Formats: sequence, C-alpha cells, structure tokens
Amino acid sequence: MYDIRIEPFGETFDCGEDETILAAALRNRRYLRYGCKHGGCGTCKVQVLDGDVEITASNFALPPAERDAGTILVCQSYPVEDCILDVGAMNLDEDEFRRGDATTSRAMTVESVTALTHDIRRLVLRHTPDGSLPFVAGQFVNVTVPGTTAQRSYSMANGSADIDRIELICKVLPGGLFSGWLTDTAAPGDPVEVSGPFGALAVRLSHRDLVMVAGGSGLAPLLSMLIDLSRKGCERPISLFFGARTAADLYVTEEIAALAADLPLTFVPVVQLPDANWAGATGLVTDALAAARESWSSSDAYLCGPPGMIDAARDLLVARGVRPQNVYFDAFVSTGETAGV
Ligand SMILES: Cc1cc2nc3c(=O)[nH]c(=O)nc-3n(C[C@H](O)[C@H](O)[C@H](O)COP(=O)(O)OP(=O)(O)OC[C@H]3O[C@@H](n4cnc5c(N)ncnc54)[C@H](O)[C@@H]3O)c2cc1C
Ligand code: FES
Repeated sequence: MYDIRIEPFGETFDCGEDETILAAALRNRRYLRYGCKHGGCGTCKVQVLDGDVEITASNFALPPAERDAGTILVCQSYPVEDCILDVGAMNLDEDEFRRGDATTSRAMTVESVTALTHDIRRLVLRHTPDGSLPFVAGQFVNVTVPGTTAQRSYSMANGSADIDRIELICKVLPGGLFSGWLTDTAAPGDPVEVSGPFGALAVRLSHRDLVMVAGGSGLAPLLSMLIDLSRKGCERPISLFFGARTAADLYVTEEIAALAADLPLTFVPVVQLPDANWAGATGLVTDALAAARESWSSSDAYLCGPPGMIDAARDLLVARGVRPQNVYFDAFVSTGETAGV
C-alpha cells in the first residue's frame, strides 16, 4: 500500500500496488472527477507534485507535453511510491471531494433516432419519472449498450435547460457495439441506462473571444455550449470552424445559422473534398483556421473531435497566440483506439 496525498485538500488515502489512484479514491469514499475510465477523455488529469506512478498504455487524452510536465490520468496510473497530487486542474471543490462519488445512473427511454448524415445519428433520450440528469453544456454521459455491460461516452448536444431529455449526436462506427445497436435495434420506447454527467469541458468565464473547432460528431458539445450561450445573451465574439469530409457530411447547419441570429457568431463550415457546388472553405479545418487570422491571442479555444484534429488545432492555436491553459478540449477517442487498435 502507498499513501496518496491530495492537494489542495491536504488529505491522504491508501492505494494498493495493483489499484489505480482513481479506484483507490472511490474506495476510500472520496471523489476525483472522472469520465470514461479508460484514458480517453482527459477528465481525470492531475499534477504529480511528488512521487512516481506507473502509467498504462491508454493515455490518448494526455498530450506528450503535458505528460512531460508531470500531468497524469488517475484512471490509468498506479503508484510505485507514496505520492502527492495536485487536483487543481479538475475544477473540484473540497465539498465535492469529501462527499464521495455522487455520479448518478438513470433509466431513460429512446424517444427518437434520426439520421443527420449517412453515418451520424441524433439520439434523443427522455427521462423517466425516476429523475432528471442535470448537466453543464460540454459534459458527456456514459450509455450502457442495451443487452451488454459495456458503456460508451457521448456528449450532450442540447441545451442544459432541457430538463426532460438529452440529445446525443452519434457517429456510426463500422463494427462498433453501440453503433450496431443504434442502427439495427434502437426503437422509440426502448429503455437505456445512462450515467453521468461527466467531464470538465465547459465554457469558462472570461472576457476573451471564443474560437471553437469541431470535427465530425465533435460538434455535439459545442452545439450545446452555443445553445446555452445564446440563452444567456452572450456578447463575446465566437468563431466556429466545423470540418467535414464532404458537404454531405455537414449537419445541423441550419440550427447553427439560427443561433447566429442571436449570437455574435461567425460560422465556417470546411469541406475536405468539395464538389462543384461547394462555395465555402476547403481543406482541413486547421487550414481554414490558419487562413482566417494571423493571431488568435484574444481567444479561448474549445476543441472537440478526433484526437488528430485536436492535436493539430491545439498546436496551431497555441502557435498563433492562444495560451495553452486556455485551450479546452475533449478528444472523441473510441474504445478501439484505447484498446490499442
Ligand atoms: C469524452 C468523450 C465524449 C464522446 N462523445 C461522443 C459524441 O458525442 N459523439 C460520438 O459520436 N462519439 C463520441 N465519443 C466517441 C465514442 O464514445 C466512441 O467512438 C465509442 O467507442 C463508439 O462506440 P461503439 O460501441 O459504436 O464502437 P466501439 O465498439 O467502441 O468500436 C469503435 C471502433 O473500434 C473497433 N474496435 C473496437 N474494439 C476493437 C478491438 N478490440 N479490436 C479491433 N477493433 C476494435 C470497432 O470495430 C469500431 O470501428 C466520445 C468519446 C469520449 C471519450
Ligand atoms: S476518466 Fe480518466 S481519461 Fe477518462
């Protein structure tokens, strides 16, 4: 057993050699913010102040620069000596830490499944009288794939004021377990188990502009944020870059255009393989980002999508003046990727 001291709360709990630090915290009835539990979401990042840990291979959510600076994911880290950890990056207050795990699991029902593109579905889940699942725009839930014990992460795409339902935008992955259920089996009225909310992605209070970059289904949490910002009458200028392979892979563009009527929002859809009818930006989403401005130094950045897009957008924006600590992101890592395939 090793001692794990958690700062800034000054509390110590024990952790076995074969136990992750997250598992030890939860066993000791303390809460550390977590999400996917498989190294994919980055919610459980903390800073090692002293001591050493062994890290498993699944660290997709941790850019090498952060790892080199002593950041770890507690869901993937096993202590090899006593450690002191700073959980400041988790945005966690002392009450939450001492209260233990308050994450809830809810029975919900499928309201509808709608095709937005050939491989993107909008899944609407309605709360049962069992209770609602309040969330902050940017957060995600873990959905248990019906008929299995496997869970998959999906970000809310609707506004947080909708207390009767959650809306998810799901990419259909060939051979994917949840994807298969969604396309072949899911029907209105089906029961679904949902836990959460998870994740620390949320619009931070700031006077700076917002630059948002989405790839594929990564638009989901950013759409949720835009809906909430619109409801709050946000006056901060927002630039949203949405990358897709072809024009047919773009979706909810009319909903975004409607939000732009209430928000100081510049919307730039970017198509990698344009056809003759496409008159907008072309190339990778980062090409459009680079072409739009020499400097993004007055902005906070919110990024969501595949890990490769996140890395490229993050590097570009930091090189163009965004402070690294003002880049917030969720990489949509699949279980296949964290399994090392
Ligand atoms: C924080 C977070 C939020 C997310 N939000 C969203 C969202 O809003 N929308 C969205 O679309 N996605 C989101 N994702 C990504 C989504 O959770 C994953 O893509 C998820 O894995 C899809 O589940 P699935 O069951 O359909 O596919 P999986 O069963 O997980 O399979 C994914 C792919 O890997 C392959 N695969 C799986 N296991 C193996 C194996 N052992 N060997 C070989 N191949 C394998 C499958 O064939 C498939 O192509 C999010 C991810 C995270 C971490
Ligand atoms: S909970 Fe650790 S990376 Fe998702």
